[in-house]
Amino acid sequence: VSRRALLGTAGATGLVLGAAGGAAGYAAAPAAATPLTSVGSTEVMFHVKHQPGITDGLQARGHLVAFDLTPGAGRKEAAALLRRWSETARRLMAGEPSGSDDTDVARDAGPSSLTVTFGFGHSFFSRTGLEKQRPVALDPLPDFSSDRLDKSRSDGDLWVQIGANDALVAFHALRAIQKDAGSAARVRWQMNGFNRTPGATAHPMTARNLMGQLDGTRNPKPSEPDFDKRIFVPSSATPSWMANGSYAVVRRIRMLLDDWEKLSLGAQEAVIGRRKANGAALSGGSETTAMDLEKTDAKGDLVVPINAHARITRPDQNGGAAMLRRPFSFHDGIDADGVPDAGLLFVCWQADPLRGFVPVQRKLDRGDALSQFIRHESSGLFAVPGGAAQGEYVGQRLLE
Ligand code: HEM
Repeated sequence: VSRRALLGTAGATGLVLGAAGGAAGYAAAPAAATPLTSVGSTEVMFHVKHQPGITDGLQARGHLVAFDLTPGAGRKEAAALLRRWSETARRLMAGEPSGSDDTDVARDAGPSSLTVTFGFGHSFFSRTGLEKQRPVALDPLPDFSSDRLDKSRSDGDLWVQIGANDALVAFHALRAIQKDAGSAARVRWQMNGFNRTPGATAHPMTARNLMGQLDGTRNPKPSEPDFDKRIFVPSSATPSWMANGSYAVVRRIRMLLDDWEKLSLGAQEAVIGRRKANGAALSGGSETTAMDLEKTDAKGDLVVPINAHARITRPDQNGGAAMLRRPFSFHDGIDADGVPDAGLLFVCWQADPLRGFVPVQRKLDRGDALSQFIRHESSGLFAVPGGAAQGEYVGQRLLE
């Protein structure tokens, strides 16, 4: 395969492919991002050290889907399912049909930067008799006082994240993954998301969310020395099957857009602590200028308010806690009362949720300026193993 993943073309996080490959059995990471020539022809490699869909640029379309094993399905059926899923993901990510029963939905489209990522939930391990292999990091997230969680749209034995720069390619992958589940697993919940379409801006820049803010500015960057340590489980970790893996926290966060949009621009900017137009901190400069947390105005008030979201969430305000946020926006229509059912499918990645999502969310739960404009409606925590080497399937080291 000559075509390679290109990153940053989704105009998303400015990330570059961090899945440093090259180790035995893995494809090498692309040397550099290629210019956007054809959205469809771009390909992300399946056999990489870290599963695809973590450090890759945000795609325009995403599906999150959780499955529960069916009664009677255990470790053997789960192993066969992960083998089927991995083969399907490998084929589709290479732009090949899923098999002889391919539906033709993605025909002619190319892989369009398709990524398919697989994870295991807490309940998977008791269902398969693998409790001893369950990582401590999968212990349920604490209850947060502001949570309004719908249990039927939370958790799950298995989780699959699909992203692509074409809606038909993404749908095609979702259907293939669902069909592969056969009698072994049933869909528990499924969510659809989106991001800016590649090419919609003339130059790559941080993506905007449905509140209109640049979202992702301060994400850890693969070029930073502590990136791998923050985001990926080290190869020496226990259980060893999670080596090179990561933990995904998934939250469906509704945005209360009617309330948000009533705020003046200045008030909106104070909620985050950054300018809406260019993402610059209220203390000045451009998007990448360091935030001056101490700066005061003529009245002596802090320029970046004490409860601003971008101040509260900083690693240096949370004992170093950091995560890689890689969300999709969602819009599931308009409720009977005229309120949009829209917001953020918040997906964040970290080597340990207790050093990433949990301490930050604990703090946000006490009420930052953004809290009154959002509502967490569902939640999941998944162990996402490292990438499959050539000839291997995802999760093989757990299930074989
Ligand atoms: C930063 C929006 C929820 C963690 C930001 C920024 C925006 C934003 C606009 C500033 C730009 C940036 O650095 O990306 C939102 C919205 C949310 C949301 C709209 C909900 C709908 C959360 C949640 C967490 C979180 C639930 C974690 C528990 C962070 C972190 C940063 C950040 C870690 C970067 C802080 C830094 O290092 O400077 N968010 N956020 N956010 N947010 Fe959120």
